[in-house]
Amino acid sequence: MTTTIGILGAGKLGTVLAQLTTAAGYHVLIAGSGHVAKIQLTVEVLIPAAVPTTIAEVCHQADIVILALPLSKYQTLSPAALAGKLVIDAMNYWWETDGNREDLTNTHYSSSEQVARYFHKSHVVKALNHMGYHDLFDEPRLQGQPGRKAIAIAGDEEKYVEETVKLVDRLGFDPVRAGSLADSGKMEPGSAVFGANVTKKELKKLLTDFSKTKYGQ
Ligand SMILES: NC(=O)c1ccc[n+]([C@@H]2O[C@H](COP(=O)([O-])OP(=O)(O)OC[C@H]3O[C@@H](n4cnc5c(N)ncnc54)[C@H](OP(=O)(O)O)[C@@H]3O)[C@@H](O)[C@H]2O)c1
Repeated sequence: MTTTIGILGAGKLGTVLAQLTTAAGYHVLIAGSGHVAKIQLTVEVLIPAAVPTTIAEVCHQADIVILALPLSKYQTLSPAALAGKLVIDAMNYWWETDGNREDLTNTHYSSSEQVARYFHKSHVVKALNHMGYHDLFDEPRLQGQPGRKAIAIAGDEEKYVEETVKLVDRLGFDPVRAGSLADSGKMEPGSAVFGANVTKKELKKLLTDFSKTKYGQ
């Protein structure tokens, strides 16, 4: 049976992820914040194989939901609607978009730990957050092709990390495990991994060297 991927957020990241996931053969639903009509034309033109729909339908129908909306907006979503699902958190704190939010910038918890606490009945994995949307669009390669780029993945539940590993590989990137959600600060804005468009070997080194960097102290 074909896995259904739901993407919440139909902006720069969401539309590129919809392109990658449809190209990889998934059934894809995508929603923005407002009425479906607002994204209908964009989806028809850019991603004809994806289905533009409402947030409620994405949550209801998708097997895997990717959060591709501003971090400051995740609490507008219903945790109950995503209960039991793998939720891939691709969000980052970005002050120009999210405003100055002390709750999202505290150093005690990664943003994904906060997201996981909110979606406590879901299985939250951090992934697809550190590479810019242009690079995500340009870089997919088949497994084993020279220069294949890598995506970091962090999570607390092996079963769901493994599911995300398979998804990332199918999208055309080498999956690299980055530890638990508590470790996912290594992938957040400010870290060397954030913005990284590098191979598996280079990404592993950036993750290993995190504690030697200013952001990792
Ligand atoms: N841009 C990148 O290269 C990139 C790469 C990796 C990760 N990310 C992360 O991905 C997220 C989105 O970034 P972006 O650059 O794609 O932003 P964007 O172009 O501004 O798109 C944001 C999307 O989220 C939707 N949205 C806003 N509030 C929502 C809500 N309450 N429920 C559902 N959807 C909502 C917006 O819909 P409306 O237009 O209808 O408001 C829009 O479709 C951010 O957390 C960012 O850090 C971005």
